[in-house]
Amino acid sequence: MAMTSESLDQIALVLRDDRTQSIQLKGLLTEICILPEYDQWIEDGQFEGQMFQLPSSFRSSHIMGSRLIQDVNLVIDNRLQVKINYLDDEFIFVTDGAFVDAADRVFPWHDESDLLIKTLTNEGWRKWPTIVVDPATGCGHNALRVAAERFGFDSSERALKFATINSMLNARSFSILGTSDVDKGIKIRSFEGPEKILFIVNMPFALEPLPGSLPLTSSGGKDGCEKTILALNAIERFMKRLPRNSEVRALILTYSVGASADNRWVVVDHAQRLFGPTSVRWRMPVDQGLWRINGRKEQCNPMSLSNLILKADCKLDITSPQMREALRLGYIEKEGELRSRGYDSLSYGILLIE
Ligand SMILES: C[S@@+](CC[C@H](N)C(=O)[O-])C[C@H]1O[C@@H](n2cnc3c(N)ncnc32)[C@H](O)[C@@H]1O
Repeated sequence: MAMTSESLDQIALVLRDDRTQSIQLKGLLTEICILPEYDQWIEDGQFEGQMFQLPSSFRSSHIMGSRLIQDVNLVIDNRLQVKINYLDDEFIFVTDGAFVDAADRVFPWHDESDLLIKTLTNEGWRKWPTIVVDPATGCGHNALRVAAERFGFDSSERALKFATINSMLNARSFSILGTSDVDKGIKIRSFEGPEKILFIVNMPFALEPLPGSLPLTSSGGKDGCEKTILALNAIERFMKRLPRNSEVRALILTYSVGASADNRWVVVDHAQRLFGPTSVRWRMPVDQGLWRINGRKEQCNPMSLSNLILKADCKLDITSPQMREALRLGYIEKEGELRSRGYDSLSYGILLIE
């Protein structure tokens, strides 16, 4: 039900040795993405944890291509073993689908990356950086969409295997693509010349009152902001090591608990303490849903803390009914605790630091 590590390595080897194969494979994956049947699967089947079944018309019209994708195990028994995200009418990303066990699953969704890239564009920042650093790069959704020298890290080796393949498919390289926990800081050599360094940060940010109950891609610690705060601290330490003539900006996508009426949010307060109030802005798009359940984010932004318990209905992420029940109780307790600290809401937004 998932691409094995060996198969992912094999694809990377095939693509590394033969640019023509990369072009051919990217073309085929793009053609799959624009099939109406694939559109339909994106709309519904994927949220049911189903795999995409390649239509027989595609197999008969792409005989050689079908052989290639079967040879590299991207298709087994006519079932696509990955999810394909076709973004900006240009980039192809392969990643795990929701059908992969949540414990191993590489982040399948691209709505978060889309929001980051849209903000980057709206701010006029997309062409600004000479260097982009993504400390939780997953399959590469963010860094590979920006034209700059790229540094990508993730604590998941499986995610980095997908990022390697996506880098080759899109002919966009990473200077470093390495396993690293954000807790250990940003592992990049110091720069000599004047650089414009952009951090794009999309750490897991769901509140997880019961440690180990959510997948690695969403567990942000008990209050949801722990990993984002580690990333902010790492950026601040990184900035202290930089030569004076380099500039840093950061875009950080996150949830934050807070007090809605006062527009006071824990993560924003932390960022302002670290970088100074005038260097930090908080954009909270109200047209964006939040609190992903079975793949969909449908709550209003900001969301009342009383909706936290809905996460316990997420069968795609938590298969055990006992665990879901325990998590439900965990969220009830967490809501009470947060309310006693003066918080009533969860917001979803982007911190802009410059
Ligand atoms: C929400 S996903 C986003 C991935 C990617 N940016 C995307 O849009 O597809 C969060 C990523 O953080 C990674 N991650 C979780 N904990 C981490 C940590 N402590 N240090 C570095 N990466 C981590 C996960 O493996 C996952 O790939």
